[in-house]
Amino acid sequence: MPSPTPPRPTTKAVIPVAGMGTRFLPATKAVPKELLPVVDRPALQYIVEEAARAGLGEVLMVTGRNKGTIEDFFDRTPELETALEAKGDQARLASVHESTDVAQVFFVRQGEARGLGHAVLQAAAFVGDEAFAVLLGDDLIDARDHLLEQMLAVQAEHGGAVIALLDVGAENISKYGAVAVEDATVSGEATGDDVFRVTGLVEKPPADEAPSSLAIIGRYVLPPEVFEAIRQTPPGRGGEIQLTDALLRLVEDGVPVHGVVFSGRRYDTGDKLDYLKAVVRLAVEREDLGPAFAPWLREFAADLDGKGASPA
Ligand code: UTP
Repeated sequence: MPSPTPPRPTTKAVIPVAGMGTRFLPATKAVPKELLPVVDRPALQYIVEEAARAGLGEVLMVTGRNKGTIEDFFDRTPELETALEAKGDQARLASVHESTDVAQVFFVRQGEARGLGHAVLQAAAFVGDEAFAVLLGDDLIDARDHLLEQMLAVQAEHGGAVIALLDVGAENISKYGAVAVEDATVSGEATGDDVFRVTGLVEKPPADEAPSSLAIIGRYVLPPEVFEAIRQTPPGRGGEIQLTDALLRLVEDGVPVHGVVFSGRRYDTGDKLDYLKAVVRLAVEREDLGPAFAPWLREFAADLDGKGASPA
């Protein structure tokens, strides 16, 4: 008997960017939070680059009203390119090309911001009958951490859905989707100590009702069955169609859902404080900026402690 065809490697990523970004008002009245610059490039560019590094070369953005500048950013800019070419400014020309060359980017609209689950549902025709990744457009994972690659490996081994988890502590869990997991870690060739089978999920539970302090963060690898689960999911918390609720439905239907616990660097750039931390840390680590910025930052921090003169 011929052996079954192995599943095709995942090549598609979906990036929902249709949310209203109320935590970052007033900037987000006019600028999508996903385009706020982290040093000199939009948060979203880091995320598309992360998808491409993980082998996901086809990227669908789920956009909405007031998000037209996102399409512009991933489009060619012939006048700008001609001007830079005329000046012989190859470095800036290369930086302009980065956003258009990194992946094949497609767009679909979510007519109304009815929740993350509803945003993901808009990707059904693009995805078809394959597993796919979802990367939230305001959730930055440091390029040195290989979370998405690990999640794809877990999905290839176990099938079903794989979600990224972060231990945020009991005091913070009510701001996130929380999960219940089996006590024992899952063993398998692709998995490490930090992979658990998920047995329950709940969106933003009160702290005393949370099943654990493990929060769902913005990376998912999902099977195509998730679309039917979303269609059957009524509006939940905040009147929105929650992806968390659809994932619970998969668990209840017996579809394996695994969680990879992440312990690397991650920033929620839709949150002002986390955004500031991302900008400072990435700027310090940049070869072109760090050598000048880090000494200034040290002086500034010393000044905050009352130990130095205020730097220029
Ligand atoms: P958030 O929970 O951060 O919501 O969405 P938000 O509306 O964007 O921002 P705040 O909380 O009001 O500040 C998580 C991700 O899901 C997308 C967002 O763009 C973000 O990437 N999203 C959310 C959608 O695409 N559509 C929605 O209806 C809701």
